[in-house]
Amino acid sequence: MRFGDFTALEGVSFSLPEGAFMALVGPNGAGKSTLIRTLLGLVTPSSGSVKVLGGKPGTQPENIGYVPQIKTFDRSFPAMALELVLTGVRRSWPGFWRAGQREQALAALESVGAAHLAHQAVGRLSGGQLQRVYLARAIVRRPRLILLDEPATGIDTLGEKDLYSLLERYRSESGATLVMITHDWDVARYHASFVVVLNRSLFGCGHPETVLCEDCLARAYGHGGHSHTALSRVKL
Ligand SMILES: Nc1ncnc2c1ncn2[C@@H]1O[C@H](COP(=O)(O)OP(=O)(O)O)[C@@H](O)[C@H]1O
Ligand SMILES: [Mg+2]
Repeated sequence: MRFGDFTALEGVSFSLPEGAFMALVGPNGAGKSTLIRTLLGLVTPSSGSVKVLGGKPGTQPENIGYVPQIKTFDRSFPAMALELVLTGVRRSWPGFWRAGQREQALAALESVGAAHLAHQAVGRLSGGQLQRVYLARAIVRRPRLILLDEPATGIDTLGEKDLYSLLERYRSESGATLVMITHDWDVARYHASFVVVLNRSLFGCGHPETVLCEDCLARAYGHGGHSHTALSRVKL
């Protein structure tokens, strides 16, 4: 993946088994978000090929849920939580809700324990509450693949545990595949079944125990990137 003469990703090749929980780790600027944007079909690789659920990226939006990295500006939407969830059903801002869509959105909020937030203004939610609403938005169409870009950012530790158990539950009920960017190697170790270590190129992929070894991480994080996860945090 090149942007002008800058190469953001090079030689990244892996295949993810269906139903896997993949953690994508790597320092800031490693190209993690770019990889997810490639899977969504938002950017097209300069060379190479990508298959998502057996097809071209961007061709099955109904089968893919996306939880974007939450930035402060997301909160300035003059919307209530239910409306934000509905944009996951319609892929556009709701003008008129078709029959059943409102119930579908409420059910999604309920399944992430956020039914009580339905009529609250998005701007007044805490980080953890907002993340739940985004998760409801991502699962409202029961997708087969969910892509999450640093979903734990802005959530307290307790909320983070809730988030991972919600994801686990969705995965075991639906058989969906999850791809999650995280800065926390322990989270990758304990929750993921497949880990990809990235820093512009691929530094490892496969089983967490194999991939999250000290050598592999040191090479990936010592490679010009800027990690805000200290190496000393790795428990081996
Ligand atoms: N649309 C774009 N145009 C130019 N450069 C980009 C674009 N998107 C990402 N980049 C660059 O690609 C690199 C990787 O970015 P990103 O995927 O956001 O990294 P990460 O999510 O791992 O922090 C960064 O140097 C970023 O500036
Ligand atoms: Mg990113």
